Amino acid sequence: MGFEGKIAIVTGGASGIGRQCCLTLARKGVTVVVADMNVEGAEKTSELIAKERGQAIVMSLNILDLENIKNLVNETVNKLGKVDIVINSAGICQEKGIEELTEKDWDLVMDVNLKGAFFISQAVLGNMKKNRYGKIVFLASLAGEVGGVSAGANYAASKAGIICLTKSLAKYAAPYNINVNSVSPGVIETAMTEEMRKDPNRSTDTIPLKRYGTTKDVADVISFLCSEEASYITGSNIDINGGTFMK
Ligand SMILES: NC(=O)c1ccc[n+]([C@@H]2O[C@H](COP(=O)([O-])OP(=O)(O)OC[C@H]3O[C@@H](n4cnc5c(N)ncnc54)[C@H](O)[C@@H]3O)[C@@H](O)[C@H]2O)c1
Repeated sequence: MGFEGKIAIVTGGASGIGRQCCLTLARKGVTVVVADMNVEGAEKTSELIAKERGQAIVMSLNILDLENIKNLVNETVNKLGKVDIVINSAGICQEKGIEELTEKDWDLVMDVNLKGAFFISQAVLGNMKKNRYGKIVFLASLAGEVGGVSAGANYAASKAGIICLTKSLAKYAAPYNINVNSVSPGVIETAMTEEMRKDPNRSTDTIPLKRYGTTKDVADVISFLCSEEASYITGSNIDINGGTFMK
């Protein structure tokens, strides 16, 4: 309810959590821009949506390229008229130890996970402010709250940055009826955690709910944050971790 006629940009929409967000929002009547550097994967997401008679278009996005970000937002507004929702799911994770991390590793993870997420959000603010409506959701992480275990220190720091970026943007955007929130998933069953989940030293035994999360677990919460039912939530970071970390 309340999603009819809405337009969403989902970065990282070619895979994992981003793909599931595209499917979940499209099922609710949202027209989805599937934005990813993996255009083949984005096309697949779009096909899955079309099979369910949903609406999606694919746009190529390298979130490291600020011109690409601006063009994507302008093209969305030109083609679809506005942007109501942005889900920032594009992200990378390096499982490197602290003493192995190079400057290149540090910059790449920060640029994709934190800088890219900031600049695409900045780029949609003008349109959202004009319409006095917007929902922005960031993918933070359990690692950004408690520090990385398998995920590198660069990844954990980028996600801690996302939690604070969420609060800064939420304060700025609140007068324009724009809600900005983040979610912090624990280990979710996606390509990103495939190797991690094979590690014999890891197990679901330490997770109170005794299982890893699914992309649906995350997308359902994100969809709620984009709904009118969540209109009084802003600047929050919602844990989706099976009880692994309780604040
Ligand atoms: N899977 C987990 O356990 C988990 C836990 C906490 C947070 N997260 C976060 O959730 C988000 C989605 O993760 P996922 O597990 O679905 O990962 P995934 O690897 O399945 O998907 C990530 C997507 O981001 C895209 N991407 C990477 N670099 C890009 C770039 N430069 N420009 C545009 N797109 C780019 C990839 O092509 C891919 O489609 C990430 O931000 C991740 O850090 C995931």
